[in-house]
Amino acid sequence: MDSKDYEKAGRIAAETRRYALTLVKPGLYYLELAEKVEAKIFSLGGRPAFPCNVSVNDIAAHHIPSADEKFVLKEGDLLKIDLGVHINGAIADHAVSVSVGKNSENEKLIDAANAAVAAAIAIAKPGAKVSALGEAIEKEITSRGFVPIKNLCGHTIEPYVLHAGLSIPNHKINSNTVLKEGMVLAIEPFATTGAGFVNEGAESGVYKLEEPGAVRTGKEILDFIISEYKTLPFAKRWLAKKFNSLKVNLFLKEALAKGILHSYSELIELKGSKVAQAEHTIIIKEKTEVLTK
Ligand code: CO
Repeated sequence: MDSKDYEKAGRIAAETRRYALTLVKPGLYYLELAEKVEAKIFSLGGRPAFPCNVSVNDIAAHHIPSADEKFVLKEGDLLKIDLGVHINGAIADHAVSVSVGKNSENEKLIDAANAAVAAAIAIAKPGAKVSALGEAIEKEITSRGFVPIKNLCGHTIEPYVLHAGLSIPNHKINSNTVLKEGMVLAIEPFATTGAGFVNEGAESGVYKLEEPGAVRTGKEILDFIISEYKTLPFAKRWLAKKFNSLKVNLFLKEALAKGILHSYSELIELKGSKVAQAEHTIIIKEKTEVLTK
């Protein structure tokens, strides 16, 4: 592990988050926000580790604007921007929530998510139990009258692998698993007025390589994915900028049917509920380092 690469990825993620927040206002197209975030990451010398998520209100995660969508931010929306940066495969995963215009319910939910991530980071040391992190997160959220989303978790990060083996729960669980020195962790609590459980919605237009294999159409697209994104998620919107879009569609259909690619779906809470998310990437040390602050 090259900690310099992780540190650089973290700095770029934090700078991109500060930039993204300056753009947020009613009337902003989700697509414009995502494209500006992704362009900013490149301009700062990083690469997007995954397409920028622009998830609003009851959509907890994985809404990725498509090339032709027309959604715009509205006054009173609770927006989550989840962005990733990598430097040579060293990933910083970072999310922030913001109310579009003043809204006290949104602000309370956002406070709960922010307090939860801070509480977990405060105890994330070598030897700490992952169950203790989950408990700390749950306590911050429930003490404010909200619910943590239990089927979304933080995760360890490894080079070019966004979700490596270990999950960091957002509620108290029974587990003796402990954190180890040098682990790279993304901690990402979600606080909601909903059920505390997300279901899969529409396909998000985001994929990742599952298992390389032979395709009849678009071998050059698959080669590009392997060399450019490796095992990181990518957007159909990105491919459509490089290749003929009809061919991209045929390729995606075949590659999904053959299990060459994995497709991500939106993750949705109860209709009409709100969800706030906070996320930082940290390196576990005696004095734990927050990469994305
Ligand atoms: Co994450």
